Amino acid sequence: MSLQGKHIILGVTGSIAAYKSAILTRLLVKKGAEVQTVITPAGKEFITPVTLSALSGRPVISEFFASSNGTWHSHVDLGLWADLMIVAPATASSIGKMANGIADNMLVTTYLSMKAPVFVAPAMDLDMYRHVSTQRNIKKLKSDGVHIIEATEGELASHLEGKGRMEEPENIVAMLEHFFATDHNLDKKKIMITAGPTYERIDPVRFIGNFSSGKMGFALAEECASRGAEVVLITGPTALSASHPNILRVNVESAMEMYDAALKNFPQMDAAILSAAVADYRPEQRSDKKIKRSDKEHYTLSLVSNPDIAASLGKLKKPGQLTIGFALETSDEERNATKKMEEKNLDFIVLNSLNDRGAGFGHDTNKVTILSRHGEKQSFPLKSKNDVAKDIIHTVFHSCLDS
Ligand code: CTP
Repeated sequence: MSLQGKHIILGVTGSIAAYKSAILTRLLVKKGAEVQTVITPAGKEFITPVTLSALSGRPVISEFFASSNGTWHSHVDLGLWADLMIVAPATASSIGKMANGIADNMLVTTYLSMKAPVFVAPAMDLDMYRHVSTQRNIKKLKSDGVHIIEATEGELASHLEGKGRMEEPENIVAMLEHFFATDHNLDKKKIMITAGPTYERIDPVRFIGNFSSGKMGFALAEECASRGAEVVLITGPTALSASHPNILRVNVESAMEMYDAALKNFPQMDAAILSAAVADYRPEQRSDKKIKRSDKEHYTLSLVSNPDIAASLGKLKKPGQLTIGFALETSDEERNATKKMEEKNLDFIVLNSLNDRGAGFGHDTNKVTILSRHGEKQSFPLKSKNDVAKDIIHTVFHSCLDS
């Protein structure tokens, strides 16, 4: 991978970690990038512009005007020139200014004019990093679509141990390379994803549910959104949160609610990924009052079947629309999954087996095999659910949507 010809704005702010920006500049230039440094007044207290301009081969920009000849530094032009902006190190103060649009220096002004993706690598003392105000600003930046490169744990300049160290320049460069290598091929595609469990109410305090965490569906939503898709994430009850601004979250509780939301949204979609663990049955009667314990030895709950969302979409599907389902099987896995794919008129089915250690419900990892309606099969090793999401999206959309 390389960064050949990429225009990168490197923002440097007033942190001890500013020395790392020299190494970062060097590595970026070595990878073929053109680096334009923009430094805050406080940044200059920690590293000299001379060092950074020598390493980047470009004058460092700090003021709105060049003091030598009064030339205006156009943040608008910088915003158009850049393929990417990275602020590293980013102090609590600069993060706060960026999150709130306080454009009192060249760096924040440039950020506000930026047309390209922006990355931020915080660096600060551990207490500052975990302070509610800093975390609120980081969350705000994330929801504005900024990529946050989390600070790491270790010894800090204060000699305290904790989270607050700027990520190492080598790792930052690897992340940026990966970012450019990822094809953003889902630009403006509309993708609906069902996720999580459903809760089928028995009475006001009890329900029938399952152990689905929703992690796979949320990872798929983030992956699609980061590739430029507009995502509608219809989710059952889960503690997870979706951070990307391109994800519209629709909260539902029961299979019937999920079914209604899915059918309402599907006509506008290019694809639907059905990752929810939908309850197959719901109580025939929902009691308005809490069901009391009785003297009877047995209590029988009568259940009626829920609609099959995947199969219903399979019937409604128009040419050009894709549906992708999941199958969780414990025996005769591939045959059962293929049968499900046909019955539900799916284009792909993602098979995960409960027989594999670390795969499926509740885990952070998953091990999948993707089967297509044309008989193709691809098996992947055990990976984090985020990486599994990348594999699924790459496999499914690689040929279909680009063509
Ligand atoms: N599915 C759905 N609506 C349902 C049941 C399942 O949309 N009411 C979807 C799931 O989201 C998944 C696929 O269908 O993408 C297969 O789900 P699974 O529970 O494995 O299949 P079932 O059809 O319920 O079969 P069984 O539980 O008997 O294995």
